[in-house]
Amino acid sequence: MTYRDLYNEAKSELKAANIEAYEYETSALIEYIFGLNKTSLIIRYDDNIYNEALIRDFLKCLKRRICGEPLQYITGYTDFYGRRFFVGKGVLIPRFDTEVLIDEVLSRLNKTENPNVIDLCSGSGAIAITLSKELENGAFYAAELSDDACRYLDMNKRANSAQNVNLIKGDIFNIHQNFENGFFDAIVSNPPYIKTSEIPTLDAAVLCEPKMALDGGEDGMMFYREIIRKWTDKLKKGGLIALEIDEGQQNAIEKQLVLFGYTEIKTQKDLQGLTRVISAIKNQ
Ligand SMILES: C[S@@+](CC[C@H](N)C(=O)[O-])C[C@H]1O[C@@H](n2cnc3c(N)ncnc32)[C@H](O)[C@@H]1O
Repeated sequence: MTYRDLYNEAKSELKAANIEAYEYETSALIEYIFGLNKTSLIIRYDDNIYNEALIRDFLKCLKRRICGEPLQYITGYTDFYGRRFFVGKGVLIPRFDTEVLIDEVLSRLNKTENPNVIDLCSGSGAIAITLSKELENGAFYAAELSDDACRYLDMNKRANSAQNVNLIKGDIFNIHQNFENGFFDAIVSNPPYIKTSEIPTLDAAVLCEPKMALDGGEDGMMFYREIIRKWTDKLKKGGLIALEIDEGQQNAIEKQLVLFGYTEIKTQKDLQGLTRVISAIKNQ
């Protein structure tokens, strides 16, 4: 069997399984198992594959993907804002859309020297670690409740040499009490925001991710309400709040922000043109 045969066979199986990015995912699995990036694969297209064990490993991975497991759980990593993050069962895979949140925080915080920043519901740590690397100076806190996610967060912190990220294991509904009022320059979060009733309708690959990373309560708004209610006092006057949201939640969150004294409310869209981020400044 040549690499071309393997590529074509895998590509048609992923396509038949309705996997949208079937071409990209075929190349990614080949790179993961055979260590060939796209260019090397093209060069070696018509070479025979003699390593039967690697072919068996590849077919096992392909089967897992066809059965609905996300590609990133199979390879064990994903890339976010140009850095590699380890992921696996028990932690949400950081999404490309969340990079919009990073861009917004970087542009609104760029004049703050040595900021204190907390990432609530930090998961793999993608947001806290990325901000700590991009801003360099400052103190960064990553708050997360799940044991599995904390394990990945710690691994990612070490792999990315993010020494100024402090992992806080705990429930964001309680740990605000550990900080004095006015401590933070920025509160950032991509919390669970899917309505409980919508969870069973999600794609099989998303359903492999932990329910506690997805479930935002009956109306999907539980975390936003509680973050704004419990954490606003912890923000300095003039501090920034930045939240990843689903487009339909914009108006309700905006009202809540106004109610709690925020101004300069801005939204940002993702590449599909959907409102993905809301941010505001604490004014009192
Ligand atoms: C949507 S995921 C986001 C993960 C990460 N911020 C990202 O963007 O990839 C939400 C995260 O919130 C965590 N979580 C859920 N309830 C929590 C709570 N009460 N306190 C702290 N973390 C919580 C979940 O375990 C999950 O890791």
